[in-house]
Amino acid sequence: MSCDSAVSCRWCIYPRVLGDVSSVDMSTTVLGQRVSMPICVAATAMQRMAHPDGETATARACLSCDTGMMLSSWATSTIEEAAEAAPGAVRWMQLYIYKDRALTQSLVRRAEEAGYKGIFVTVDTPYLGRRRDDVRNRFKLPSHLRMANFDTPDLAFSSKEGYGEDIGLAVYVTQAIDATVKWDDIAWLKRMTSLPVLVKGVLTAEDAKEALKYGVDGILVSNHGARQLDGVPATIDALPEVVEAVEGKVDVFMDGGVRKGTDVLKALALGAKAVFVGRPILWALACEGDKGVSNVLQILREELHLALALTGCRSLKEVNRSHLRRSELISRI
Ligand SMILES: Cc1cc2nc3c(=O)[nH]c(=O)nc-3n(C[C@H](O)[C@H](O)[C@H](O)COP(=O)(O)O)c2cc1C
Repeated sequence: MSCDSAVSCRWCIYPRVLGDVSSVDMSTTVLGQRVSMPICVAATAMQRMAHPDGETATARACLSCDTGMMLSSWATSTIEEAAEAAPGAVRWMQLYIYKDRALTQSLVRRAEEAGYKGIFVTVDTPYLGRRRDDVRNRFKLPSHLRMANFDTPDLAFSSKEGYGEDIGLAVYVTQAIDATVKWDDIAWLKRMTSLPVLVKGVLTAEDAKEALKYGVDGILVSNHGARQLDGVPATIDALPEVVEAVEGKVDVFMDGGVRKGTDVLKALALGAKAVFVGRPILWALACEGDKGVSNVLQILREELHLALALTGCRSLKEVNRSHLRRSELISRI
């Protein structure tokens, strides 16, 4: 292949007909917790940049839509604030492993105490990807905001610390996040908490098998919204090999580029238990706070319902590999 062409895959849906789809059940479980649909909210940092209520608004919207939310370690609301905003909601904590292991442990403890139901360890960010827009825009937190889970200005990524010159967040990651992390550290986390521990950011069968060896409770196929490493596959294309490698031993989830009900259906057909949605939630939050987020989740719910019915599926269990076929497209770029 010459360097000016690219191969991508298109997954086409092959529906079945005449199967009485007058009722479609979209409920499922994620790590044993019931959710009304297989569409959950991904961890996205610093949500108060999108709306003054930030993560607390997202939490309220997830509760009202009866679905789960993953809170970022780098939230601009604390672990406890997000929990208090939506008592009884299903929530999970996204974890970065800090060089300061006592600090890392305290994040896990706080999540346990605040009723979070699982820890998603992000494994694709030993360093921050080169985000050229952030460099150009001199990305930093506005002075009234901080990463709320941390007490000191340096760990809270405070603009007062001078982050924001050039690539502040990349500097933060290099200084604070532990690039020495290995699979053994997943075992360390597993020993430390009774919560399920999942890895977020796996794209290969090899790493999926490694994850199983270390006893993970689930795998989230993710390329961090294509914001870490240029050239990685779309998650929908990486999902099948991870699902195959896992052989049903743990649940596999997917995030990245889910924008429509048919995107969700494709991920389910390729073996994902549920999907997580990132940017559409932020856009909705910026427009209308919790109302906007609820609206986006509701649109996705209705679209998935229709996609399932038109594919001839009455429940999520009926969606399978036979509903999808793949064709390769070669495009000149
Ligand atoms: C603005 C933004 C902030 C993010 N922050 C985090 C984060 O703090 N931790 C993390 O593991 N992933 C983070 N992600 C990645 C998301 O969890 C998720 O993998 C990705 O956004 C999914 O793709 P989508 O945005 O196309 O739905 C972030 C993504 C975006 C767009």
